[in-house]
Amino acid sequence: MNKKVILDKRPIGLPSEEVWRYETSEIPTPEEGQFVVKHEYVSLDPAMRGWMNDVPSYIPPVALGDVMRAGTIGKVVASKNDKFPVGAIVSGGGGVQQYSLGDGKNEFLVPANDALMPKFLGAMGMPGMTAYFGILDVGKIKEGDRVLVSGAAGAVGSVVGQIAKIIGCEVVGIAGGPDKCKHVVDTLGFDDCVDYKSPDFKSALRASLPKGIDVYFDNVGGETLDMALAKLRKGARVVLCGAISQYNTTGQIQGPKNYLSLLINRASMQGLIVFDYKDRYGEAVMQIGQWVAEGKLKTDEDIYEGIENFHSTFLRLFNGNKRGKLILKVN
Ligand SMILES: NC(=O)c1ccc[n+]([C@@H]2O[C@H](COP(=O)([O-])OP(=O)(O)OC[C@H]3O[C@@H](n4cnc5c(N)ncnc54)[C@H](OP(=O)(O)O)[C@@H]3O)[C@@H](O)[C@H]2O)c1
Repeated sequence: MNKKVILDKRPIGLPSEEVWRYETSEIPTPEEGQFVVKHEYVSLDPAMRGWMNDVPSYIPPVALGDVMRAGTIGKVVASKNDKFPVGAIVSGGGGVQQYSLGDGKNEFLVPANDALMPKFLGAMGMPGMTAYFGILDVGKIKEGDRVLVSGAAGAVGSVVGQIAKIIGCEVVGIAGGPDKCKHVVDTLGFDDCVDYKSPDFKSALRASLPKGIDVYFDNVGGETLDMALAKLRKGARVVLCGAISQYNTTGQIQGPKNYLSLLINRASMQGLIVFDYKDRYGEAVMQIGQWVAEGKLKTDEDIYEGIENFHSTFLRLFNGNKRGKLILKVN
């Protein structure tokens, strides 16, 4: 049987457990050209919160009554598609369920083994692609740049900062709590990390950026974005990747006040949607894979178990009670 998580109601603010319901159905049977994937892991991403809102976005919202949309990785267990034979490891958007039906249009064969599967949801998967194209193509970093990264202990931010270090930048991270900041510096190799949950956050951030910043990679938005704007140097680039501090806001989204800094500094601020780089994912996977193999880039996955624990695990994205890429093992 296939256990699945269905979106039942639209959330207001932080989603409560009642917005989803659990259902069980027969495992699907493939028709000609189709295959069935048994999901090992489901990717839990902040974007899932946005997909629950019935508002225009870069993709349509999850419809009420549909399986909750999510990235997945698993093995083909039944197939009528020669390109996706039984045993192949497949990544796709199979949703929060134990099995899904694919036809190869939105699924990728992944050169993983059982142990590597979680990495293909993290540094070698969508968050890694986001980091790679965001910091290199949009942020246009070069050696010697001063780079600030929020969400620095998370799936995207941890890879952004490490790539910037590989390129030869000076990198400061922002993360929640002293333990995460220590990890960002000691393990991930950032030059410094500022704890945004500390009462001294503002002064500590100012102190860590005495010469300002050339690139700000924004994962959190809100007040932190405003503080970063105030520190831009001439010609700086701001990469708008995400704004997690605003995703559960029930009132007005907090927009930047310090935007005149862009004008004064001839700086730019550009949004990024990783799916626009789909045709170049191969390039990023190869390069990140090489850095990982050479020991230059560390990957970090935080894996929880059981599809019935979806709600409490999902909330870890917002309460910070996790480190690196958040993953749910569902089979
Ligand atoms: N544009 C794209 O194509 C694209 C693709 C992927 C991801 N994203 C965005 O990139 C950002 C990071 O995604 P991710 O997958 O790497 O998630 P993540 O950083 O692994 O997980 C979310 C983290 O955000 C931090 N956080 C939660 N609430 C916060 C708040 N109110 N203020 C500041 N920080 C808060 C927490 O870290 P702490 O413990 O440090 O607080 C938490 O661990 C998200 O905004 C996401 O939407 C964008």
